[in-house]
Amino acid sequence: MKTCIVISGGDAPGINAAIDGYARLAARQGDRVLGAQGGFAGLLDNRLVEIDTALSSLLAGRGGSILQSSRAPALRQPDARERLARVMAGRGIDNLLVFGGDGSIQHISPLLADWAVPCIFLPTTIDNDVAGTDCTLGHDSACNFASQALAGIRATANALPGRIFMLETLGAPTGHLALAIAYAGGAHLALLPEYPLELNWLAARLTRIVEREGHALVVLSEAYPAIDRLLKEIPQRTGIRIRYSALGHAQRGADASHNDRRLARDMSRAAWRAFKDGLRQGIVVERTGAVSVHEGGLPSAAKPAPDLDLLEFVNQL
Ligand code: F6P
Repeated sequence: MKTCIVISGGDAPGINAAIDGYARLAARQGDRVLGAQGGFAGLLDNRLVEIDTALSSLLAGRGGSILQSSRAPALRQPDARERLARVMAGRGIDNLLVFGGDGSIQHISPLLADWAVPCIFLPTTIDNDVAGTDCTLGHDSACNFASQALAGIRATANALPGRIFMLETLGAPTGHLALAIAYAGGAHLALLPEYPLELNWLAARLTRIVEREGHALVVLSEAYPAIDRLLKEIPQRTGIRIRYSALGHAQRGADASHNDRRLARDMSRAAWRAFKDGLRQGIVVERTGAVSVHEGGLPSAAKPAPDLDLLEFVNQL
C-alpha cells in the first residue's frame, strides 16, 4: 500500500507525531508513505517527498509540521480532478491521509468522495471545532500553552493588584478553545464570540471581581466582537486599567502535549488499520476516550456552539 499524507489549512501541534506514527507503522509493515509539500496545491504539482522517518521521529513532539501546508483552494481548479488522478496514478498512490481542520474537512471531503478518491481525514486543529469528534489533534497542546501563560499572568496580577488582565487566544471563529482554557485555568470570565456580553454588565462584573479579588483574569477569543471597543470603554466605565496579552501564532506552533502525542499515534494507527481493512472514505474521531474511524462523511455540518452551561459556570451567571 502506498499512502500520500497531505496537510491542509492551519497546522496544529501533534501533526509531526501523527506523521511519524503513520510512517513508522507503515514502514514496519512494508508499506510506503509519501508526503505532499504545500498541501493539495503541492500534491497537484507533484511536489512529493518520501517521509524521512529519522527526521519525523526526531521532530515528533515539535510544533508546526515537517510537511508544509497550504490554504489555497487547489481542488477547486477546473482541471484539479484530472491532475490529482494523474499524480496518484503516476506515483502509484493508493490513498490519501489528509490532516486538516473544519474548513478543510467540510470543503474537501465531499469533493474527494465524489471523485471516489480513497481518503481518510485526521482532524487537526487547535480550535476543536470539528463535528463528530470530542477532540481534535492539537487542541490539548494549545490549551497547555495558554495555561502556562495564564499562570504567569496570575502570578504578576497577584503581585501588583488593581488591574484587569485579558488573555486573547486563537480559535476563530468559535469559542471552544477559549472556554476550555478559561475553565481549566480558573479564569474569572470567558468571552466567547457565540455569546457576547453586554458592556455595562461586563463593566460592573469586572469592578466587583477586582474589588473582591484584587484583580480580574479574563480569557477571550480572538473572534469576540469589537475587542477594540471593549478595551477603550471598560477602563472608561470602571476606572480600572486593562493589561492585554495575545497568544497569537505562538500558541498554534506550541510543542505537542503528552496527550496530543498519544492522540496522534492512536489516530494515525486507526487510519492505517482502516485503510488496510479496505475503508475508502472516513474520518478519525475520538469519542469518550476511544479512537475510531467513522466511515463516510461527517455526521453533521457544524459542531454545536460551546457548552452554555459551562460558560455560565465559569462566568458565575
Ligand atoms: O487553524 C486554526 C487557526 O489557528 C485559528 O485558530 C486562527 O484563527 C487561524 O487558524 C489563523 O490562521 P492564519 O494562520 O491563516 O492566520
